[in-house]
Amino acid sequence: LKARYLTQIAEAEDESALEAIRIAAVGKKGEVALRMRELGKMTPEERQAAGPALNALKDEINSALAARKAALADAALDERLRAEWLDVTLPARGRRQGTIHPISQVTEEVTAIFADMGFAVAEGPQIESDWYNFDALNIPGHHPARAEMDTFYTHRAEGDDRPPHVLRTHTSPVQIRAMQDQGAPIRVIAPGRVYRADYDMTHTPMFHQVEGMAIDRDISMANLKWVLEEFVKAFFEVDDVELRFRASHFPFTEPSAEVDIRCSWESGTLKVGEGDDWLEILGSGMMHPKVLEAGNIDPAEWQGFAFGMGIDRIAMLKYGIPDLRAFFDSDLRWLRHYGFAA
Ligand code: PHE
Repeated sequence: LKARYLTQIAEAEDESALEAIRIAAVGKKGEVALRMRELGKMTPEERQAAGPALNALKDEINSALAARKAALADAALDERLRAEWLDVTLPARGRRQGTIHPISQVTEEVTAIFADMGFAVAEGPQIESDWYNFDALNIPGHHPARAEMDTFYTHRAEGDDRPPHVLRTHTSPVQIRAMQDQGAPIRVIAPGRVYRADYDMTHTPMFHQVEGMAIDRDISMANLKWVLEEFVKAFFEVDDVELRFRASHFPFTEPSAEVDIRCSWESGTLKVGEGDDWLEILGSGMMHPKVLEAGNIDPAEWQGFAFGMGIDRIAMLKYGIPDLRAFFDSDLRWLRHYGFAA
């Protein structure tokens, strides 16, 4: 009996085989238990010899089971260690990481430059009432500027007579919102998306502007000029720039000026600060009294300058990108070519 079980245990290949042997040999209804039951029928002398012998047998089988179980576990671990090895000297698998969109990168650069000059960031909604987008900026209903802006109008339900909202055509409505929210003095920029129904190499129906506005008791065009010069130097990473203020007209500024920077185009690359060409980069002027009033600021006490610049446009210039539409195609080959993606 003993020899049979010890052989079975030694030959068992896994835990379930061991368990089957355990149940058959030393389980509650196993062979050893059956023999124990027979002790009752024995004479006291026989019982005295057989009892301890059966107990010893049970112990021996149990310890053989435990020993075999441990040996099997050891063998299994050895096998795993052999199979599951890791070569830490292998090169890592390449991973593609996303990058920040070039327009967002440029927006961050612009924001950082103006932040250095004390401008905070203001925001407004992209779906704007026509009061904020036009009227408050001294562009009344009949004004030709409304048509010129190629405005997208939202649809109102049949019978809803309120004027439609528009997709803001510029960031200038944020001037009004910032004045109403913060009062004077104030110094903010407002970068964000704007919309006009226009599409070609240099126009997309959605594009980006950054508005700038500074209001205080004695703000003049001289402050505007300095701020813009500092910005252009920092953004295009040049020591010197020359700006040209060309008289212009915007309903919300008086006087108004479009600002050009001196530059040259050598074999298609832009150089800022030298050469005989002029490149328009923004519209600007002194804030119209009616605009200050719309922002609840008294024009007898306060003056301000404002400007609006195309972010996509200065991004194209800085990085030498000929077609604006490519910015919004999400073509990885294009992004990589210009170093905007890994
Ligand atoms: N809002 C004008 C535009 O979109 C730019 C501008 C802003 C001009 C502020 C003057 C002052 O063309």
